[in-house]
Amino acid sequence: MKMIAPSILSADGGRLSQEIQAVEKAGADWIHVDVMDGQFVPNITMGPAIISAVRKATKLPFDVHLMIKNPENYIGAFADAGADYITVHVEAASHLHRTLGLIRKAGKKAGVSLNPATPLCLVEEILPEIDLLLIMSVNPGFGGQKFIESSLAKIKKAADMIAGLTQKPLLEVDGGVNLQNISSIAGAGADVLVAGAAVFGTPDYAQTITALKAAANRA
Ligand code: DX5
Ligand code: ZN
Repeated sequence: MKMIAPSILSADGGRLSQEIQAVEKAGADWIHVDVMDGQFVPNITMGPAIISAVRKATKLPFDVHLMIKNPENYIGAFADAGADYITVHVEAASHLHRTLGLIRKAGKKAGVSLNPATPLCLVEEILPEIDLLLIMSVNPGFGGQKFIESSLAKIKKAADMIAGLTQKPLLEVDGGVNLQNISSIAGAGADVLVAGAAVFGTPDYAQTITALKAAANRA
């Protein structure tokens, strides 16, 4: 079964806990949390304090996507805040292997993310050791952007690389996923589909998530 992870970047920030509960009730599998520092990406969002506050709203896994420079300095803080998956960008972590070790040591699932222009060969050696590979299908920084079509080939390639492994990380895709393209993205091999605007921009979350799941699983 393909999983849907609504990104709370597109939720109503003044009612974050209620929004999280609403998507849980609507059938979300994970809650995707976008952390931006204004350095690695040109936007600033939330940190550990907010995550810790809204963590109480749900028991669903928190999928924390760190779009920050030097993520190694903040692994403990995000682990304590209640993250289940902590994903760092290969472009932002100078000692990726060590950073992933810190995530594991904190008892959390370790993820690695790649920007659209970053080649998959950069994660080839680390792939057997991670829990999640996150392919960005937009340039990170903002919700509501258009899916970059060339990401489909990259997703297929990543899925092939993963298929050859004994210990397989989940393959997640983030950026511009919607009802029109989710079937091809899932068909290319994505296990977890992040959706921000495509969920929170609609009036009926349950109807939307049901439709997204149906389309993803038809793939
Ligand atoms: C982009 C973020 C995404 C974003 C996805 O930098 O990492 O998680 O919120 O939003 P949509 O689905 O609207 O592209
Ligand atoms: Zn994200």
